[in-house]
Amino acid sequence: VQKKTPRPAAPTPDFVAAMGQHVSSVCVITTQHQGKNFGLTATAMSSVCADPPRLLVCINKSGTSHEMILAAGVFCVNVLDEHQEKIGKAFAGMLGKDFDRFSAGEWQELATGAPVLKSASAVFDCEIKQVIDQFTHSVIIGEVLAAQVGRAGDALLYGARKFRTLRKTAAEPMGDKAESLHF
Ligand SMILES: Cc1cc2nc3c(=O)[nH]c(=O)nc-3n(C[C@H](O)[C@H](O)[C@H](O)COP(=O)(O)O)c2cc1C
Repeated sequence: VQKKTPRPAAPTPDFVAAMGQHVSSVCVITTQHQGKNFGLTATAMSSVCADPPRLLVCINKSGTSHEMILAAGVFCVNVLDEHQEKIGKAFAGMLGKDFDRFSAGEWQELATGAPVLKSASAVFDCEIKQVIDQFTHSVIIGEVLAAQVGRAGDALLYGARKFRTLRKTAAEPMGDKAESLHF
């Protein structure tokens, strides 16, 4: 790759405003370290590859959960369903910093010991494989040791600064065509 003069980055407010238009499902990332549970709400989650099954989460270094996730070496991604906005708010610290985040919902363990939300739309129980330092955040890549789809509920969404639900359409489902899409 030819070396070029670095181009200036876009102003952060422009980036934040534009990224606000990007709609994501709302996840709660949990871990267990030395017998204690920790977790935070996160939308920065993405599939990386399916074979082996790996995903990434971007976690702010300034929070409590960041250090605990790295120390534990494991984490669980709980994709919230559309009835779990309160859980999303609790794990974002929006119900107060003294609110017991794990008091909402029922929790179990799967493969790693990280708390798994029983009624989540989907869960991915992961072991950390790589951590990439990116200024304020760590990009944490996990290998999925267990993945489960919950009861039929749609995922909770967040975009344009609001929690949202999927709007149902009357269109035909994609059926077999969905199977042939490559992610
Ligand atoms: C909709 C939404 C999405 C969020 N996504 C992320 C995220 O992807 N990564 C992150 O580090 N924090 C994210 N946050 C902020 C954390 O949930 C929040 O700072 C939390 O209180 C951190 O908890 P902790 O200090 O226990 O780590 C998000 C908050 C909201 C409301």
